[in-house]
Amino acid sequence: MAYLKKPKAFWSNYSMNILVVGGGGREHAIAKSLSNSPLTTKLVVAPGNPGIETFAKCYPIASDDIPGQCKLAKDIEADFVFIGPEIPLVLGLKDELLKLGISAFGPSKRAAQLEGSKTFSRNFCRRHNIPQPEFKYANDINTAKKQIELLNGYCVVKADGLAAGKGVVVCDTVDEATIASKEMLENNKFGNAGKSILIEERINGIEASVFAVSDGNNAVLIGTAQDHKRAYDNDEGPNTGGMGAISPAPALDQNLEREIFDNIITPTINGMKLEGYPYQGILYAGIMITDEGPKVIEFNCRFGDPETQVLLPRLSTDLVRIVQNTIKKNLKDMVINFIPQNAITVVIASKGYPGDFKKGVLLPSLKNFDDQTKISIFHSGTGKDKNEKLVSNGGRVLSITSVGENVEDCRLKAYNVIKAINWDQGFYRKDIGSL
Ligand code: AMP
Ligand code: GLY
Repeated sequence: MAYLKKPKAFWSNYSMNILVVGGGGREHAIAKSLSNSPLTTKLVVAPGNPGIETFAKCYPIASDDIPGQCKLAKDIEADFVFIGPEIPLVLGLKDELLKLGISAFGPSKRAAQLEGSKTFSRNFCRRHNIPQPEFKYANDINTAKKQIELLNGYCVVKADGLAAGKGVVVCDTVDEATIASKEMLENNKFGNAGKSILIEERINGIEASVFAVSDGNNAVLIGTAQDHKRAYDNDEGPNTGGMGAISPAPALDQNLEREIFDNIITPTINGMKLEGYPYQGILYAGIMITDEGPKVIEFNCRFGDPETQVLLPRLSTDLVRIVQNTIKKNLKDMVINFIPQNAITVVIASKGYPGDFKKGVLLPSLKNFDDQTKISIFHSGTGKDKNEKLVSNGGRVLSITSVGENVEDCRLKAYNVIKAINWDQGFYRKDIGSL
């Protein structure tokens, strides 16, 4: 299908050519929101996926192919590039685009260290008095063991670098933590990402994800969500990239949101500016609400997946305007609005995920669900076979979002659609929104 090509918006001087980098459910939701803006003239996504292909031109260029993405941005005369995943950000795609005179939404390589290096992030928070668990850095097993014993094994072992959400082991005992540390430091479990590790104090409380957008000087909240990372119902089973999400985060009220904004988001943006790497783009703070108040579990330098699939359907402010104001450092007085409704998303994953799973498995037709009110089907890991049939192409395959008056209403609608899709080679959690 031809890419979205609208007439120039007559009420505006703008007509935007936009490249979105990425090809998962997050990028499907981002591209959908951008395509809804009257300011968007041309929308291109790389690599994209079959869901995105129904409304935007997709090019088979990998997210981490920095020269390839730069060339595409140049070829389509992109007014800006929206960088979805963390890897191209950490590799410095934004910096390379800027050298070509092309604007990008997302932090620079140095600013993306907030996600790219957990050691950087923890030391940064320490320098700026941002509340977080105690931690110790180790690049040999003896140093790791000392800290593990100090914490009686009740700790969290983390690979320093990016490990696709798998580099975190929450431990109860000295043995467990020692094995996890050895796997990373000595058995090369996460390659270079695990050559140095953190041993953290294990904190307790309720988790929430808070998303802010920053222009380097000022930040505005762009939504909150609760992610469900464990594979199975009742938060059991192995950690995954996320099996579902709900927005707004049930654990947060306005007071807590303000506290997180004032004590975590604002000092982070101010600190990054002070240290010479102003933070522009989405700042995703993973927060634990402890008895001592909210603390940072981790920072991410981009939108979450599947959280974006519940954040953006609730956003009523034009996403292109938000990006423009970010790039022009003009967020100070921007008000970001949401529809006063809830959203949930439930991920349908390939059987076996997050362990081994098959790819290329035929998916049922999704056409019947396209025009369901307040339901969106986002493609996370789909592809086409040689007969152009829709097949699975990843661990997380689809995310089904519903928006409604309350969470129960959302659950009813989302699960009705999932039951009707009835993909017997997949599985999903049945308790998203009910915990
Ligand atoms: P992360 O990949 O850093 O978000 O960590 C994955 C999960 O591990 C988080 O969602 C938390 O449930 C848990 N976690 C990470 N760090 C800590 C910590 N210091 N204390 C307790 N739980 C943690
Ligand atoms: N859902 C977790 C993440 O995007 O990092």
